[in-house]
This record gives sequence, C-alpha cells and structure tokens, in this order.
Amino acid sequence: MIYSPNSPILCRLPRVTIVGAGRVGSTLAQRIAEKNLADVVLLDIVAGMPQGLALDLLEARGIELHNRQIVGTNNYADTSGSQIVVITAGLPRKPGMSRDDLLKTNAKIVVEAAKQAIAYSPNAIFIVVTNPLDVMTYLAWQATGLPRDRVMGMAGVLDSARFETFIALELGVLPADVKAMVLGSHGDLMVPLSRYATVNGVPITELLDTATIDRLVERTRNGGAEIVELMQTGGAFFAPASATSVMVESILLNQSRLLPVATYLQGEYGLDDIVIGVPCRLGCGGIEEVLELHLTDGEREALQTSAQSVRNNIDRAQEILNGG
Ligand code: NAI
Ligand code: 2OP
Repeated sequence: MIYSPNSPILCRLPRVTIVGAGRVGSTLAQRIAEKNLADVVLLDIVAGMPQGLALDLLEARGIELHNRQIVGTNNYADTSGSQIVVITAGLPRKPGMSRDDLLKTNAKIVVEAAKQAIAYSPNAIFIVVTNPLDVMTYLAWQATGLPRDRVMGMAGVLDSARFETFIALELGVLPADVKAMVLGSHGDLMVPLSRYATVNGVPITELLDTATIDRLVERTRNGGAEIVELMQTGGAFFAPASATSVMVESILLNQSRLLPVATYLQGEYGLDDIVIGVPCRLGCGGIEEVLELHLTDGEREALQTSAQSVRNNIDRAQEILNGG
C-alpha cells in the first residue's frame, strides 16, 4: 500500500505515533506491532532511547512474525501523517511530589506534545494516557483545536479491566466472561457501575453479596495505587498498554466498540465543558457516539462529584499554564 503522509483516509494506511517511549509507551509499541495493527513511531525527549527501543522491537519481528515498521526518534517531523497519536509523555507521580507539581510538569509536556504532533499530523486522532488523565485530555483537546470526537483519554478501559479481573478472581471464572463498565474520572472518584457488571450476561448482583461487591469496587478504585505500592519503582504499564491498544484497534479497524472513554462533554449527563469517562463508540472517525446511560441518583451524584474534582484541576492547570 502506498503511504501518503497527509492522507485524509483514516482507515487504510495505519501509522501510530507514541509520544513518550517510557514503560507504557514502549509496551504499547510492542502490542501494536505484534498485533499487526500499524507501523509505529516512538518519540521521546531522551536522545537515543526511542531509537534503541525501536531497533530492539525490529529485531523481534522475525520471531513474532510481523512486518510492521518501528521507528524511534526525537524529532516530530518523523511522526508526520500519523492516523493516531498517543501521548504517554510525562512523569508518573513520585514520592514527595505533590499533585500540583505533577499537574504543572505534565500539563506543559502534554500541551507541547499535542501542539507539535498536530502540526505534523493534522488528520490524526489523539489518545491521551498521561496523568492526571482527564485534565491532560482536556488540555490536549484545547491545544490541538480539534473537534471533540478526535481527542480522547484512556482510563476507563483499564479501570474496567481491573474491575473485571477482581470479579473473575473472586468467582473463579474466566476473565473474558466478565464484562464491566467504569465511568468518571481516573482516580479515587471513579464510578464503577456494579449493576451493569455481568458474567456472560448474569448480573454480579446475582452472584455476589453487597459487601463483597463493595470490596471489589474499592480495590478497583485503588487499582493504580496498589501496583505502585507493590512495585515501589513506578506504576502499572502492561494493562495500561493493553487497554490503550484496544482503543487503537477499535479506531484503526473501525470496530465501533462501545468502551468507556474520557471525552469532552457538551451537556451529556448534565455535564458541560469537561472531560470525563463515559461510554463511547470508537470507530475510524474517533468517537462516533457518546452513550447516555440511565443512572441511579447515587451514580449520577458520584459522577457529579468526580466531575467537580476534574473541574478544579482543569482550572488549576490553566492557572499554571497562564503563569499562576
Ligand atoms: P515513564 O516515566 O516510564 O515514561 C514517560 C516517558 O515520557 C519517559 O520516557 C520520558 O523521557 C518521556 N518524556 C518526558 N517528557 C517528554 C517530552 N517533553 N516529550 C517526549 N517525551 C517525554 O512513565 P510511564 O510509566 O510510561 O507513564 C507515563 C504516563 O502515563 C504517566 O503520567 C503515568 O501516570 C500515566 N499512566 C496513565 C494511565 C492511565 O490509565 N491513564 C495508566 C498508567 C500510566
Ligand atoms: C494507573 O491507574 C497510575 O494511572 C495509573 O495504574
């Protein structure tokens, strides 16, 4: 197939740029290449590092039986004509670092990455992974000036996968048979929807008592922190990379999968001018539909609380970016 850098045809000539070749970014590159989804450009600020990772991944191609191109670079010009740009650049929170410090550092990195990447790939769809996720997605949406269907954040697929894992472990069933949906912001205030969780269509409320479900919900809310505490040297990256690759796949293969995605809301769920996780259909144009579920009063209230915390952080991030 002929590769044309600025082709508006999103579904035919797949090239994915990953900004930030750290643990999440490099694992995502491996997933995308080994699933044969797209050629990959890995970009990082550290000289030599993405080039080394790309070469290492290339040397595995014969063994893994794929023929995708993988390029490592420090130059945005090499990302030109990408169909998807994934932003994982930034710091994970370290001991002694305040939330504000993290917000300050990552806001600047994400805004700069989004501006540089859109300049070379004006037709791209953006997926943000950097934390704090909902705020960074909002800033990337603003920085690119793209319509909302083309800028989104990954968190809900990961949080739902964690909830599904804990349900499967509790019941001793196949993880693939468990389906769950986690909405809201990525963090302590996420909103796992227990009544929508099923094992092959059977609601978990038929299989587990309330106290057990509450315990699994709490473990899901602390899913990221649990791994940081165990590893001590960083956070999760295998499951985050898998979750992001599912979104990339749904877009590139135009699968229209219904997934929880952080998206800009314009009145849905009673929320406006905010990014938060809700169910969306993902296809080759990006977000094809934002689905409004009927929520109970408690779920709606939890979503509002979650959104309020994102709103406070967006305001703070904008103050920081404006020199405050
Ligand atoms: P990492 O530290 O391994 O990798 C981050 C990479 O970004 C580093 O290689 C660094 O050199 C690079 N970088 C920093 N500034 C850059 C810039 N200006 N331009 C290009 N590259 C730059 O971190 P890891 O574990 O890969 O996590 C990445 C981010 O993803 C963190 O913010 C983390 O909190 C977040 N995360 C979000 C998840 C989610 O569910 N949304 C799940 C897991 C991680
Ligand atoms: C996670 O949930 C910290 O966002 C990261 O693993």
